[in-house]
Amino acid sequence: MDTEELITRATEARENACADYSRFQVGAALAAASGKVYTGCNIENSTYGLTVCAERVALWKALSEGEREFTCIVVVASSKSPASPCGACRQLLWEFCGNLEVTLANLHGDRQTLRLEELLPRPFDRNSL
Ligand code: THU
Repeated sequence: MDTEELITRATEARENACADYSRFQVGAALAAASGKVYTGCNIENSTYGLTVCAERVALWKALSEGEREFTCIVVVASSKSPASPCGACRQLLWEFCGNLEVTLANLHGDRQTLRLEELLPRPFDRNSL
């Protein structure tokens, strides 16, 4: 599946966001090496702190289906310029997906593609233990 199709999938997933508190809806589409795509949206709740980002929802779905190899992730938000994953998501994407291709997009057609190592330089991971 090409990047534009993944952007479409992430944009659709964004519509399911449970973002009653921030009103900031995010969608993600994570492509596995198997060819399957796992989508996610952010899920907030009244405790605020238990919020889960769209990227992690997609990652948990994929891992729980047995996927272990990934090629890229697309993140879509309504921000003026494409939004970056939070620190927690960067860490977990690195841990489970390695140096993934990351495409950030907004609803106005702006896109930026980079590698996860650019978002998370000098990571702490199993090689650090
Ligand atoms: N959020 C994501 O889902 N992914 C990101 O990359 C950035 C932030 C969510 C978390 C929260 O529900 C809302 O956006 C505002 O921070």
